Amino acid sequence: MSAPTKRLYIKTYGCQMNVYDSERMADVLAPLGYGMTDEPEGADLVVLNTCHIREKATEKVYSELGYIKQMKQARAEAGASMTVVVAGCVAQAEGEQIMIRQQAVDLVVGPQAYHQLPELIARTHRKRGERLAADFAADEKFDALPVERNPTGVTAFLTVQEGCDKFCTFCVVPYTRGGEWSRPVETILAEARDLAAKGVREITLLGQNVNAYAGEGGLAGLARRLAKIEGLDRIRYTTSHPADMGDDLIAAHAELPQLMPYLHLPVQAGSDKILKAMNRAHTAESYLRLVEKIRAARPDIAMAGDFIVGFPGERDADFEATLQLVREVGYAGAFSFKYSRRPGTPASALPGQVADEVKEERLARLNALLDEQQRAFNASQAGKVLPVLFERPGRHPGQLSGRSPYLQAVHVDGPDRLIGQIVPVRIEAGSKMSLAGVLEMETA
Ligand code: SAH
Ligand code: SF4
Ligand code: F3S
Repeated sequence: MSAPTKRLYIKTYGCQMNVYDSERMADVLAPLGYGMTDEPEGADLVVLNTCHIREKATEKVYSELGYIKQMKQARAEAGASMTVVVAGCVAQAEGEQIMIRQQAVDLVVGPQAYHQLPELIARTHRKRGERLAADFAADEKFDALPVERNPTGVTAFLTVQEGCDKFCTFCVVPYTRGGEWSRPVETILAEARDLAAKGVREITLLGQNVNAYAGEGGLAGLARRLAKIEGLDRIRYTTSHPADMGDDLIAAHAELPQLMPYLHLPVQAGSDKILKAMNRAHTAESYLRLVEKIRAARPDIAMAGDFIVGFPGERDADFEATLQLVREVGYAGAFSFKYSRRPGTPASALPGQVADEVKEERLARLNALLDEQQRAFNASQAGKVLPVLFERPGRHPGQLSGRSPYLQAVHVDGPDRLIGQIVPVRIEAGSKMSLAGVLEMETA
């Protein structure tokens, strides 16, 4: 490929699916002469890949667009141009409104239309195109994206499933990403083989409900086939819904050494009344039984979760039930959020909206408990020898940074040549965010 002639800046918000999509946008734009840049200043094309999940996430996008507008004007005064594209879930949810609210935006493109970007941008430049592309044809997108990837490291994301049919009453995803749709096994395997051939050792399979993957053999079947790919030593997947955590997938955790012992399985709340109002399709009890079953198959598995505090109608006793569930599970990591009222979702119209001070206070208490559990889990690794996949140089000279099987960041002193290798590390200490250790071969 010839050297890039134009500069592309992509800013990514939200979930890992957006990270994957941003890489794919760069892939489809590269043949048109676009090379990536780290700064929006001086960029010919700016793409904001946005998230609509909570109000704050959406507002960040509009404030960023304010800065971009000034840069675009400065560039115009200097006789150059800047094309501004809004992609992702805000694009899908707010469409035309974005262009009304921010005139600097040239094009709004939803998550299923990225394969059309080259054409849409060319049309925008001729001032003849639609400024909005937001439909839900996921199959066309994946068929049209190139199989070839340009991985930048030894780990990579790979989207296998998109969209959601669960309709949790608080959530915008079923509206921004459309219905559940799975890529065929063969295209996923082809992409994974290409990544492995380019030095990728760990793949994280992505889906809004990744364990609802409906291609042949389901997610367990897919994992078994991926495990056969030479060089692919680690397989992860995220995010899973408890309702789709089938026996076959649980069995795969006992059977496949490549399937890493870390599971992100959001529960959201511990009160059955709230879970029902959320339309979560599980109870606290059924979730706890599920965790037990998973641990029976893979006793060392690290559990992670998502939590929402202050859902409409949540009383003190309901919140206590969440704390109780957290105590019973014992999480290795978690994400917790204050309920955010999203326009158009059923929960936004429910009575009993909770005051912000109450949400704040509950979030602080929940986080204190989750932090304590995370710290205890990390500290419990001290003295063990863990296989660590080194991903990059660490922050200090002579340091390496990698991940344990449990997704913990691990820092050791060691030579750069170990990047891309899985090496035994003797863990000396664990703090809230990471583990510190020494290379086992040097102590031996
Ligand atoms: N599909 C994934 C989650 C996608 S959104 C799943 O079901 O697990 C990621 C997390 O954002 C959710 O798990 C939830 O905890 C949180 N979230 C979604 N909508 C929210 C809202 N309206 N307010 C606060 N948190 C929300
Ligand atoms: Fe949203 Fe629920 Fe679907 Fe997850 S399962 S994306 S929280 S609707
Ligand atoms: Fe956000 Fe869309 Fe992901 S709303 S969390 S970017 S699916």
